[in-house]
Amino acid sequence: MNADAAAPIAKDRLIVALDVPSAAQARDLAAQLRGMCRWVKVGLELYLAAGSSIVEELAAQGFSVFLDLKFHDIPNTVAGAVRSAASMGASLLTIHAAGGPAMLSAAAEAAAASPNSPRLLAVTVLTSMDRAQLAAVGIDASAADQVLRLARMATASGMQGLVCSAEEVQMLRQELGADPSLVVPGIRPAGAAAGDQKRIAAPADAIRAGASKLVVGRPITQAADPAKAAQAILDEIANAK
Ligand code: C5P
Repeated sequence: MNADAAAPIAKDRLIVALDVPSAAQARDLAAQLRGMCRWVKVGLELYLAAGSSIVEELAAQGFSVFLDLKFHDIPNTVAGAVRSAASMGASLLTIHAAGGPAMLSAAAEAAAASPNSPRLLAVTVLTSMDRAQLAAVGIDASAADQVLRLARMATASGMQGLVCSAEEVQMLRQELGADPSLVVPGIRPAGAAAGDQKRIAAPADAIRAGASKLVVGRPITQAADPAKAAQAILDEIANAK
């Protein structure tokens, strides 16, 4: 097998965040992206509006679904949530690393025992938290140090990857090696509006820094032609060297 054949294909590396308030809007976007995009993300807004049926529907259409509900509860409850999400057909889930090793291990065991074994990503420090916000919840560390501490703990506790910002990806790749999947939001192609994102990166730059997958919402979902916007990002991922 040559290196190109072994390289992950662009379609596996783009996750479109369906951050819309209704099942009808999610269906409309999915219809435009079907065949072109493999991964979609269902977050709190869509999940609370449309429920588990939207996850089942997207999975039945052939999409791989990233269910981004950031679980954080006692180990038994999180294990049950992982089983429920797996039975809906979700392929990728998020868990707060701050829940600790016992909670993460329980989640990992539940995922491994589920029929389609969803992969688990840890969320370390929310990008909305800075040093002052961390101090307010009793953590006397910089955001970067806390991210690394939680990332090491999470991967040692069975998480297959992490959600991280483009700013953190290079450091995490160096510290954690090639194995963990690093999933990066805050992506903006040249010319796209930043919106409320403070730290953004172009698709090719995030891939070059070591990202496994990119999460892209508004630059695709609010484009006049979402399929064309998605294709441009897929091309940029494919050509990132
Ligand atoms: O529209 P946009 O491309 O900014 O969407 C980014 C997506 O990634 C949203 O669903 C957002 O909730 C998610 N996300 C993020 N920053 C994080 C974690 C998740 O933007 N640190």
